[in-house]
Amino acid sequence: MFTETMLESIKKVEATRAARMGTEPRRMTAEEKSELLKAYHPDYRAEGFKEIKIGPNKGEKAPVELTNLLHSNSRLLGVNVDLTKIDYDVDVLVIGGGGAGAAAAIEAHEAGANVMVVTKLRIGDANTMMAEGGIQAADKENDSPAQHYLDAFGGGHFAARPELLRRLVMEAPDAIRWLNELGVMFDKDEDGRMVTTHGGGTSRKRMHACKDYSGAEIMRTVRDEVINRKIPVVEFTSAVELLKDEKGQAAGAVLLNMETGDYLVARAKTVIIATGGAGRLHYQNFPTSNHYGATADGLILGYRAGAPLLYQDTIQYHPTGVAYPSQIFGALVTEKVRSLGAMLVNKDGEAYAHPLETRDVSASAIIRECDSGKGVDTPLGSGVWLDTPMIELLHGEGTIEKRIPAMLRMYLNYGIDMRKVPILVYPTLHYQNGGLEIGGEGFTKAIPNLLVAGEAVGGIHGRNRLMGNSLLDIIVFGRNAGKAAAKKAKEVELGTPNLDHIYAYAEMLKEAGCAEAGVSPLLLPKYARHER
Ligand code: FUM
Repeated sequence: MFTETMLESIKKVEATRAARMGTEPRRMTAEEKSELLKAYHPDYRAEGFKEIKIGPNKGEKAPVELTNLLHSNSRLLGVNVDLTKIDYDVDVLVIGGGGAGAAAAIEAHEAGANVMVVTKLRIGDANTMMAEGGIQAADKENDSPAQHYLDAFGGGHFAARPELLRRLVMEAPDAIRWLNELGVMFDKDEDGRMVTTHGGGTSRKRMHACKDYSGAEIMRTVRDEVINRKIPVVEFTSAVELLKDEKGQAAGAVLLNMETGDYLVARAKTVIIATGGAGRLHYQNFPTSNHYGATADGLILGYRAGAPLLYQDTIQYHPTGVAYPSQIFGALVTEKVRSLGAMLVNKDGEAYAHPLETRDVSASAIIRECDSGKGVDTPLGSGVWLDTPMIELLHGEGTIEKRIPAMLRMYLNYGIDMRKVPILVYPTLHYQNGGLEIGGEGFTKAIPNLLVAGEAVGGIHGRNRLMGNSLLDIIVFGRNAGKAAAKKAKEVELGTPNLDHIYAYAEMLKEAGCAEAGVSPLLLPKYARHER
């Protein structure tokens, strides 16, 4: 199961374990963190970015792969879609079937709107489903939303939009209450109190979890609620372009039936983009913890229609993706493993950094160890040890099975028992910190009646997100978007839907001389092998 070199290194990890158990490495100073980030964080590698040549963020940079999609034309250019033939006519169109989309649909429905969800795979095929460690909320006596705000604001390098972050933390306790009442099986003690733990960068234990499949449990619950309410969900159907009317308002979307290839027209008084992340664009060739459909589609749809992006140049690499075995390369190893006490250790058995630094700092420290020859060689690169046997030494036998059973199972599938041996990790592309810019109510600033929720939003977390604030933002901003869209739909007077903006965009691309050959949004990642 392990190579000879790995086994040699494990001996060193074991030899230093007893001494390490009593002494945590100190936290880095602000200056140390800043130097480390500049030297090792992938956001600082100039070659990973490219200037955007057209549109609202012209002159700013974005990851090369995203810029290339922004520089691509619509697949509808020159296609004769009959916009007078309306296939779906709704008050609220939700694009995306993950946690944010489901939460939005539930609240829009609750407010009496005629709402529909369209999703390119199945409802629940989303990063929400992949989330493991938990969801933050300051709902215990020793904590407060103000404390939560300070942790998240500092962790995000003081760049979060205050009005968005304020909403996130203030509405967090109600998000937990809502989920609990819908039926989410949160971890609770014998007295029925929620069990909460630390995450990287938290000053209080406010991480609520459902073992280590928190996202799957939350998605199960909100998906059931959507289905129970009989909200229409159109699956295997992608939104490929937004529609606008002659007043410039959002007016629906053109949809592509992924099975038949037919185009369909959805007219809507309000549209919510909840399309999630971009991990499957594999920025800088990183592996990803994201689900198969995470290809930044909503960013492309919104941008082409004229909505600005915010912080599109900042990406989160989760420190602990699987480095070995290769079959699960890049899969998420939840931060909860470190919350439970496992230390990050290099090939010589040295704990080189505090295990719960914020993610950007932790990821950079792992890259530094590996780049300076202190990582352990693996078939696909290198990694550092996450000393998981420490967990049961600290908290007692059975803790791993009880608190992180999905992790245990994932490794046992490959003959690795993380209760007995450490595991090898390396950063994996996990989250887009940036996205479409919104105001506090969830509306984009440039396109009336267009809202955004979830990972497609930029600005909630600033330039780095803390663990557990993403499951939280999909619920807080998803619910708010659903309520706001339903309310707004009551007063909207729609004009005639058109696709004029895609032709104007094509003109801009031509004038700037930067048009890429392909079309966007990408919809599905490119993994096909090409014969030479
Ligand atoms: O490490 C994790 O379990 C991931 C959580 C998150 O991204 O919030």
